Amino acid sequence: MAALRMVEVVDVISEWCGRRARHWSIAIRENGFRLLPGGSPTIGGMSFDITELSGGRAEQYRQLREQAESLLAGETDRVANSANLAALIFHALPDLNWAGFYFTRGAELVVGPFQGKPACVRIAWGRGVCGAAAASGETQVVPDVHAFPGHIACDADSRSEIVIPLRRGGAVLGVLDLDSPKPGRFDEVDRAGLEELAAVFVASLGD
Ligand code: SME
Repeated sequence: MAALRMVEVVDVISEWCGRRARHWSIAIRENGFRLLPGGSPTIGGMSFDITELSGGRAEQYRQLREQAESLLAGETDRVANSANLAALIFHALPDLNWAGFYFTRGAELVVGPFQGKPACVRIAWGRGVCGAAAASGETQVVPDVHAFPGHIACDADSRSEIVIPLRRGGAVLGVLDLDSPKPGRFDEVDRAGLEELAAVFVASLGD
């Protein structure tokens, strides 16, 4: 009887630990261990599970920003951080067919890390939605890509798009680009949330 009760207690504790484990990951850094929300521990390494976002859309972006800050913390490499942020965004937000980066190289934007189908490599400054965001320094929200003069179709499935410039001081380092197969997928909540994520990325690069 006593043994049975002990088994039940162990079951309850294991279930509780299992649930907690799904919500935390352990990042191994030079300076020790850090707990990250949204991950789960693995043996002999680090994994980062994308926790399902909850609440209203602004709240979801707040949670996503926290996950991005944790994911990029302690790393300044541009390729590493843009690759991880593109993956986080692509898997966390619904109805995307492309999410990634273009970086400024002279008078062009050159494709960086992304998730989605292979994309156009070079975009002239000022061309397409990406070029417009880079040249103006302003986020471009495009509800219907076919109605945007000069839109560059990398994936024929794309119907709407949002492009956020990556501003540092007076310079535009590149852009963060998201495409959707749904018309009108992006609105002002997306603009505000994604501009914050872009700022987290730029800040992660250091000086
Ligand atoms: N549609 C973009 C080109 C990049 S792809 O969407 C990945 C544009 O018009 O600039």
